Amino acid sequence: MGAIHYYEKERVFKLDTPHTSYLIGIVDEEKFLGHIYYGAKITDYDVRALMRTGEAPFVPSQNNRDRSSFLDAFPMEYPGHGVGDYRESAISVSDKNGNTAGQPLYREHKIYAGKPGLPGLPATFGSEEECETLEIVLADEVLDLTVTLYYTAFYDVDVITRSVRVTNHAKEPVYLTKVFSTALDLDAEDYRMLTLHGSWARERQIEYRQIGYGKQSVGSCRGESSHQEHPFVALVSANAGQEQGRVYGFHFVYSGNFLAQVEKNQFDSLRVVLGIHPQDFKWELKQGETFTAPEVVLTYSDAGLGRMTRTLHDLYRKHLIRSPYKDRERPVLINNWEATYFDFDTEKLLAIAREAKKSGIEMLVMDDGWFGDKYRRVQDNSSLGDWVVDRKKLPNGLENLIQTADRNGIKFGIWIEPEAVNSKSELFEKHPDWALQVKGRPLQYGRGGTQMLLDVCNPEVQDFMFGIVDNLLGKHPQIAYIKWDANVELKNYGSTYLPQDKQSHIYIEYHRGLNKVLERIRAKYPDVLIQACGGGGGRASYGVLPYFDEFWVSDNTDALQRIYMQWGTSYFYPSNAMAQHISASPNHQTGRIIPIKFRCDVAMSGRLGMELQPSKMTKEEYQQTAQAIKDYKSVRDVIQLGNLYRLVSPYDDKGIASLMYTDDTENKAVFFAYKMEHFNNQVIPRVCLRGLDPSKNYRVRELNVKTGGQPCFLNGKTFSGTLLMNTGIEMPLGSDYASCVLELTAE
Ligand code: GLA
Repeated sequence: MGAIHYYEKERVFKLDTPHTSYLIGIVDEEKFLGHIYYGAKITDYDVRALMRTGEAPFVPSQNNRDRSSFLDAFPMEYPGHGVGDYRESAISVSDKNGNTAGQPLYREHKIYAGKPGLPGLPATFGSEEECETLEIVLADEVLDLTVTLYYTAFYDVDVITRSVRVTNHAKEPVYLTKVFSTALDLDAEDYRMLTLHGSWARERQIEYRQIGYGKQSVGSCRGESSHQEHPFVALVSANAGQEQGRVYGFHFVYSGNFLAQVEKNQFDSLRVVLGIHPQDFKWELKQGETFTAPEVVLTYSDAGLGRMTRTLHDLYRKHLIRSPYKDRERPVLINNWEATYFDFDTEKLLAIAREAKKSGIEMLVMDDGWFGDKYRRVQDNSSLGDWVVDRKKLPNGLENLIQTADRNGIKFGIWIEPEAVNSKSELFEKHPDWALQVKGRPLQYGRGGTQMLLDVCNPEVQDFMFGIVDNLLGKHPQIAYIKWDANVELKNYGSTYLPQDKQSHIYIEYHRGLNKVLERIRAKYPDVLIQACGGGGGRASYGVLPYFDEFWVSDNTDALQRIYMQWGTSYFYPSNAMAQHISASPNHQTGRIIPIKFRCDVAMSGRLGMELQPSKMTKEEYQQTAQAIKDYKSVRDVIQLGNLYRLVSPYDDKGIASLMYTDDTENKAVFFAYKMEHFNNQVIPRVCLRGLDPSKNYRVRELNVKTGGQPCFLNGKTFSGTLLMNTGIEMPLGSDYASCVLELTAE
């Protein structure tokens, strides 16, 4: 049997994943599509028991509700607008006369193996052996509009994806002013709302809120998924923790404007909606035209946030990222940004590469500042768009640099920012119309006081952007890595390319254009590793993961603050997607002085890299990082591809934070613990491990032992999985900024 079943008599659809079920019903007379159930996997008996034939079966209790409030209480699958349901609608359409009421009703459905692509949009993927899809066509006869709901249930991960396609069949155009990709009605119970917020250099902080009556939301209208709020929301039961309790997770597969909102109404029901932010969204649909809204990933866990996370990590590896690096180990790299900023030349870079190689680093990434002819990129106010080598800095060009790095046994990566242009650039002089701009209004600039976004809606601009990568990789096929930056928001809301009556399409067309470019790059260069940098952590979203391999977690490399940001980021993105670099002390962003071992141990829990200038490193720093890299490589498979268990949260004020990874066989694990604050007579909690086999015995080896020091008292000991997971182990974290990394191997 497939993942999706239609109970004809009951007119109910049941979608199953390994541990969850999702039920949708057609209310006979009205043909409303009602939401019945989403939660732990249930049986056919349960489905029939949930039905109460002869009445609308899906309203939990209607005893105290009269018919007039029926629609306002009814759990809807895709609620319409202006027809008696006063909660947030999923869709809003106005016809030429300005009428905005509409409620699409069930017309037909089909179920098939596999998953359709979403043209022009990033999306998860799955073969006919991996998933099944339900398409339900709803129709609004008055507007002559169809709304097709797509649900895909995966066999191998507890994920259901949803997306929506709206088609206008009427002669006259209609205007979509809202089209969310998902709406889910649940009983309010005791859920809290979990979201991530932040700012530049302070990304993805965790926030829990009580769900009050009315609406609460996160969103972005910056033209990007943003540093500030994250296209994700979870409902977390009151007792939930990392490994227990109920969690509903929703993640948008889109990197543009979004809204994620939870509403609690008078009948204590919750409505979650997620999709394109309705602000500034107005889309004209002429007869026969279709608008497809991006996908939302839904997951349910009855084993806490930990299972939600592991499900989402599995989804990333199996159904989201397309590059061969999904299950390949990723290189340890050095990035010269914090080592040199704009002040480098061939010699400096090669010296970095040579020294880095000695400590085990496998790749050099040349950051911002390598380009510009008429306007040289010596600071951040010029040259974006002029992707020609700065011959003053690199007189023998890239070729010489790449080949020398290659001869030294080190791979090469390069920084670009294809979507941006500075007003001080040859590109802007030649194509001033290629920048987004509002007719008659002064240009708004971002970074450097001169930076703008290119009008990626324009196919010529798309060709230009593809050309940047194509020229680099075509001429220098040894380039193994691209750091794709995006340092400015969509500030000038106007396009010289789009006609006047389509200016309201910019936010969407920008991302469609970007996806076209990324599709072309991936089709021609599937093997190159690409980082979505986004001005620090501004582009961390599922919307770019089909094309990019990893994120730069934050421009803030302070190891102490990174523990919080990496903690939040790990809720959705696996460690191999999280670029974590060892950096200088005092830290360049915060001035904090942190011992080198702690800095290494924090960076080692993800995709390890370095921002340090080798020539400025002390002997101790040099030895410790070399040790860290050597040990990291010996367990890199477990860290990068393993299952994450978060053990002690930095948010819990226990003075420490701890996490670990296990491999699928439960034979190998890597454990991390960090001292977050230091007091006299401090009580450090024992830490219980997770994800091990209770019946196995594990031998402990300390990794990255402090230079000149002795391994900690746990080193060389053997513990049973039972003891490790139930009693836990004492932490060797006596001093300020103490940290430890342990390898556990089943004997
Ligand atoms: C952004 C990135 C940094 C660095 C600079 C270069 O801020 O996040 O890592 O690449 O741009 O200008």
